[in-house]
Amino acid sequence: MEIVAPLAEQYAANHSTPISSVLQQLAQYTTATHPKAHMLSGSVQGQFLSLLSKLLQPTTILEVGTFTGFSALCLAQGLQANGSLHTIELRQEDATTAQKYFDVAANKNIYLHIGNAIDIIPTLTQTWDMVFLDADKVNYINYYELILPQLKSGGCILADNVLFHGEVLNENITGKNAKAIHAFNQHVMADARVQCTLLTIRDGLMLIRKK
Ligand SMILES: C[S@@+](CC[C@H](N)C(=O)[O-])C[C@H]1O[C@@H](n2cnc3c(N)ncnc32)[C@H](O)[C@@H]1O
Repeated sequence: MEIVAPLAEQYAANHSTPISSVLQQLAQYTTATHPKAHMLSGSVQGQFLSLLSKLLQPTTILEVGTFTGFSALCLAQGLQANGSLHTIELRQEDATTAQKYFDVAANKNIYLHIGNAIDIIPTLTQTWDMVFLDADKVNYINYYELILPQLKSGGCILADNVLFHGEVLNENITGKNAKAIHAFNQHVMADARVQCTLLTIRDGLMLIRKK
C-alpha cells in the first residue's frame, strides 16, 4: 500500500528542486536493471536527505543499507569538505553499482563497506553527526542501540520505512518486518535520550535527535 497518494507524490516531486543528473542516471539505471528497484529512496525523499544534510552540515555520516548508492550520494551533498560518509552494504553486486556511481560523481569522501552491518558498525570508531538507517528492518533496534552511543549530542538519525507500506497501521500487525518496525517506533518514542518526529514522507521517515 502506498501511504502518500500518487497524485500528492507527483505534486511534491513537481514542486521540489530536481535531483542532480548523476542521481537521475543512477535512479534510471536502477529502475531499468534491478528487480528490487522499489528500494530506492526516490526523488522527493532524496531531495529531503540532501536538504537536511545541507542544513546540518555534518562532518561524519553513517548509512546502513547502501543499495545502489542513491541515498548516499544525496546525503553526501551536505558533507563538510573534510568530512566522510561511511556506508554499509551486504550485497556485493549492489555495492559494485554504488561504487561505480560514487566514482562517476567523483566523490572521494564516501567509504563503502561491504558486509553485514551488525559486524561492521562496531568496527567504526567515529562519532556521528548524521545517520541514515535503511537496511534489514528486523535489526533496526539493534542498529539504533549500537549507534546511539556514537552519535554526537545534537546529531540525528533518520530511519526509513517506519510506516512499512501501511502495515504498522493495522490493529493486528502480522508480518515480521512490520512487527519489527512497530517495535522500533515504540522503542524510540519511549527513549528519553532522544526527541523524535515520525514524518509521513514516502514510506515514513523517523527523524531522531539525540539530546
Ligand atoms: C532499502 S535498501 C537501501 C536503499 C538505499 N538506502 C537508497 O535509498 O537508495 C536496503 C539495503 O540494505 C541492504 N542490507 C540488508 N541487510 C543488511 C545488513 N545486515 N547489512 C548491510 N546491508 C544490508 C540490502 O542489501 C539493501 O541493498
